[in-house]
Formats: sequence, structure tokens, C-alpha cells
Amino acid sequence: MKLIVITGTPGSGKTTIAKEVASKIKDSELVHANDLIKSKHIFSSYSKDGAMVVKLGMLAREIDRLRKSSGKRILIIEGHVLCDMKIKGATAVVIREHLETMRNRLEERGYAKKKINDNLVSEAIDYCGANASMNYKESFELMNSKDAASTIVSIIEGKMMPRKQIDLLHELVMLMKKEKVGFI
Ligand SMILES: Nc1ncnc2c1ncn2[C@@H]1O[C@H](COP(=O)(O)OP(=O)(O)O)[C@@H](O)[C@H]1O
Ligand SMILES: [Mg+2]
Repeated sequence: MKLIVITGTPGSGKTTIAKEVASKIKDSELVHANDLIKSKHIFSSYSKDGAMVVKLGMLAREIDRLRKSSGKRILIIEGHVLCDMKIKGATAVVIREHLETMRNRLEERGYAKKKINDNLVSEAIDYCGANASMNYKESFELMNSKDAASTIVSIIEGKMMPRKQIDLLHELVMLMKKEKVGFI
């Protein structure tokens, strides 16, 4: 059994891409971390902006249980919180997205301005990617594109090793200039 973690900032495209990856791989199972966290009540409270405060140790144990009980060849787990966790033996793929695209998606979700800007800064400084590279024995970054799912399939099959880091800091600088205000 191979365990693949798909993670990234909210609005990067994790859920969309993970579904496409799962549809391309026979004998795979896809788990949405958020569904697991809600169904097993793996959170202690809600933060001020409405996000669940996840019990990371409990989630790691639950994922370990899934790994042991799933009879599938490939287990794919997707979720933002996964970049902050250590999951033994897993390969992590961090989905990156252009900041303006991400902002549009988060606005569509109805996020408050501050929450959107916090997420854009997190994306620009590569918060998820930096954590994933510390927490996983193997981690890759991939821009969201129509080819992203096929690239992940190639990574799973050991045929591709994409670059380790993508630099979007310049996009943050351009956004700040365009708006003529600092929004950090
Ligand atoms: N490659 C893509 N092409 C077109 N739309 C996309 C793509 N990736 C994501 N989206 C759209 O962006 C929105 C957010 O994507 P989602 O997968 O839910 O992000 P995440 O799970 O990282 O928060 C969805 O409405 C989805 O349809
Ligand atoms: Mg999602």
C-alpha cells in the first residue's frame, strides 16, 4: 500500500485534483481529511474564523488505522491540515496556485477579506510546502494546471520527480503594488 498526501493552501485545488487522480488510478481509495475530521469528531473547537481546530495526533492515528484496514493499492488523502503533520511513509504533493486565482476562489467561498489575505500570504511564503518538506520523507510542489493530476499519477508510479519548490513571492509583491496598500 502506497500513501499519497495531497495538500496546499485553501483554494489551491486539492480536492478537485485529488478526485481526478483517484479516477485515474485503479485500486485506489480517496479520503478527504475534512470529512474524516468531521465524521470522527477529530477537532477540539472552532477558531474565530470558523476553521476547525484539529487534533493532529488523533488524526494521524486515524490515518494509520485507515492505511491498515484499506485493502487498496494506493491510499490518497487530501487536506490543508496534512502539511502540518507527520505521516510515516507517505509522499506529499503540495498544490500551488497563482495568488489572483486563489483570491477569486476564496472570494467565491465568501471568506472574509482578512482570511483571504492571510491565505494569500501563506501561499506566497509557501507555508504548506516548507512544512511538508520537513514533515515528509518525500515532498513535491506542483502548480495547479490541467496536467497536475497526470503528473501526480506519474509521481505515484515513480516516473517523475518534479521540482521541490515554486516561488510565488513576486506575485505577492505585484498584488500589493496593484492595490497600493500593504495587506499583511
Ligand atoms: N484545475 C482547475 N481547473 C478549473 N477549476 C479548478 C481547478 N482547480 C480548482 N478549480 C476550482 O477551484 C475551486 C476550488 O478548488 P478546490 O479543489 O475546492 O480547492 P481546495 O480543495 O484546495 O480548497 C473549485 O470550485 C474548483 O472547481
Ligand atoms: Mg478542498
